[in-house]
Amino acid sequence: MDAIDCIKTRMSIRKFKADPVPQDVLRQVVETAQWSPSYKNSQPWEVVVLSGAKKKALSKMLVELLESGKEMCPDIAAPESWPEAEGARIADLFRKRKEATGIDLSDPAIVYKAKVANFNFYAAPHAIYLFQEESLSQWSLFDLGLFAQSLMLAAHAKGLGTVPQAFATDYAADVKRFLDIPDSKRLVLGISIGYPDMDSPANALRTDRSGLDEIVRWVE
Ligand SMILES: Cc1cc2nc3c(=O)[nH]c(=O)nc-3n(C[C@H](O)[C@H](O)[C@H](O)COP(=O)(O)O)c2cc1C
Repeated sequence: MDAIDCIKTRMSIRKFKADPVPQDVLRQVVETAQWSPSYKNSQPWEVVVLSGAKKKALSKMLVELLESGKEMCPDIAAPESWPEAEGARIADLFRKRKEATGIDLSDPAIVYKAKVANFNFYAAPHAIYLFQEESLSQWSLFDLGLFAQSLMLAAHAKGLGTVPQAFATDYAADVKRFLDIPDSKRLVLGISIGYPDMDSPANALRTDRSGLDEIVRWVE
């Protein structure tokens, strides 16, 4: 698969096969992501790969926290509002998802179910958490985004599926305590990773993108 195919055919996977991914494949995926560019080559990324009993225990803890009604406190706050163009695209995604799957993400009961699915990492055999020092600037957050995309593309090139998950960071302090990560780090993203179950309706919806002219202005 060439780079353009890899970028254009990657999609968020929300149902995985149970088969674990061999550790050398996971290592290759993370090692590839290390070649992402970063501000002054600072490489502001720290990675935890969770599998097996520990992954199950973390999922159980997250679901129990949700059920207990504990307030969510991610290190990067969820947006409270969106500018018009971005808001319209989100509304479009929600409408298409509801049409295709019946899942209405504007319904709080469905969002609760979606949180549970996120905390179970969509049945993936592995979960990846990305951290960085909290004192790092917004440029480093940008760098970690590049790293995340490289990781997801490398995984896709190896026949694996991924989904980036802000929701997986909802209980950031608890996740850090569970993983023995100091409070001086910010938890930026969770990523489920494994072999995609493409027969599942959860993976049937392919998102689209705005027309090029909506986002580009050619200046000469
Ligand atoms: C920073 C970020 C956070 C996201 N958080 C979640 C999440 O918590 N749960 C989830 O199912 N998908 C999440 N997504 C996936 C997006 O919904 C998805 O990337 C978007 O709808 C485009 O679809 P695609 O990835 O299939 O191209 C997130 C994506 C990004 C980049």
